Amino acid sequence: MDERARLDGAAEASCGLAQGGGQGEKAASAAGEPAGTKRPCVLVGVTGCIAAYKACEVVRGLQKAGVRAKVVMTEHATEFVRPTTFRALTHEPVAVGLFDEPGDPIHHVSLAQECDAFVIAPCTANVVAKLACGLADDLLTTTALATTAPLVVAPAMNVHMHENAATQENLRVLAARGVTLVEVEEGYLACGDVGKGRLADVDAIVAAALRAAGVRRDLEGRHVLVTAGPTEEPLDPVRCLTNRSSGKTGYAIARAAVRRGARATLVSGPVALEAPEGVQVVRVRTACDMLAAAEEAFPQADIAVFCAAVADMRPERVAPRKLKKGRDDDALASVRLVPNPDVLATCAARKRSGQVVVGFAAETDDVVESARAKLASKHADLVVANDVSDGRAFGSDDNEVWFVTADDVRAVPRLSKDRLADEVLDAALKARG
Ligand code: CTP
Repeated sequence: MDERARLDGAAEASCGLAQGGGQGEKAASAAGEPAGTKRPCVLVGVTGCIAAYKACEVVRGLQKAGVRAKVVMTEHATEFVRPTTFRALTHEPVAVGLFDEPGDPIHHVSLAQECDAFVIAPCTANVVAKLACGLADDLLTTTALATTAPLVVAPAMNVHMHENAATQENLRVLAARGVTLVEVEEGYLACGDVGKGRLADVDAIVAAALRAAGVRRDLEGRHVLVTAGPTEEPLDPVRCLTNRSSGKTGYAIARAAVRRGARATLVSGPVALEAPEGVQVVRVRTACDMLAAAEEAFPQADIAVFCAAVADMRPERVAPRKLKKGRDDDALASVRLVPNPDVLATCAARKRSGQVVVGFAAETDDVVESARAKLASKHADLVVANDVSDGRAFGSDDNEVWFVTADDVRAVPRLSKDRLADEVLDAALKARG
């Protein structure tokens, strides 16, 4: 059979990928990330004012949303925060001077091209004026002029500087040109004055930058539960039954959920992956532990994705001491197994209205039919069916799957696990209706 070949054509036509191919893709490969990842890149411009330290929080906010943040500073900004701080936060070089990067004589152009949005926060009255006039006398303003990416400006200044007709006129010019302005706030200013001039709330700046970079936030206010990785079922203190699941798909789904604004809980079996930024990770070993952790998180979840390769069976008896050849030959020769609980089926049996349950099906034959059977027997709303014949899918960075719902089967062409993660979340939202 080639069920896949039959379905692929339709899939390619219907597979709406999560984010358009922006300039960030170029950035992703430049940063040595796996091909096909689409981590957007936001350039953060920092100018010389007391609120410069808040740019650190802007950078962290962007990173928590899964965005790659790079920083460019004016010379004056370095009087308030050292470039080292941003270098440590971003793990990227931090540019200040036009001629800082000896290997890249047109650094402003490369910075300008690789970002999906440029957010200047805080932006002083002086830099607002330069932007309005199109002046380009340092790396930050030259980059602002050279970029075709959306520009976001979050001003911060003394109340009288802000009220000044020149500043107000400059801000109007920027707004009329399509620059997103994140309005100053009213309050106590560092200079002792009270009034409008404080840098806007960091969350508002981050949200504006994410919108400008085309980062979707369609899961804001939602809670996504993901199970991932294998389980380990102990036989004695040193031996266990397990499988070769890498956990990569589940981790990618949790990451994508957070990037799209959700709160994510990741119940993870033992894997060699780092906890994704902003995700609450609950580490477990056995299927029973995984069930307990999933049952605790499930009632709050709007979308629950059961991605883990749970061991179906566990040794009936766990020897308290290491089993030894000779002494424990009988125990080693016949290990009696008992069934493990089904984490997905147990949770899905308690599904409330509005919750979406997504299962995975690892199959070696009759992939779609077996997935349909699992959809029904486990009360899932969507099953992502995987062909694991020849050890395919385990540990790889990309995957091809079918999305199986009660009334639809859709083949999804080979995608990186990061892009597949967005597809799974899209399909889950669709399954919710
Ligand atoms: N699953 C689970 N708990 C189990 C077994 C499976 O939560 N004890 C979930 C998996 O996370 C996956 C789905 O059920 O979402 C199907 O897993 P799979 O291993 O393909 O199927 P099984 O139910 O184990 O059936 P079989 O191995 O017989 O195909």
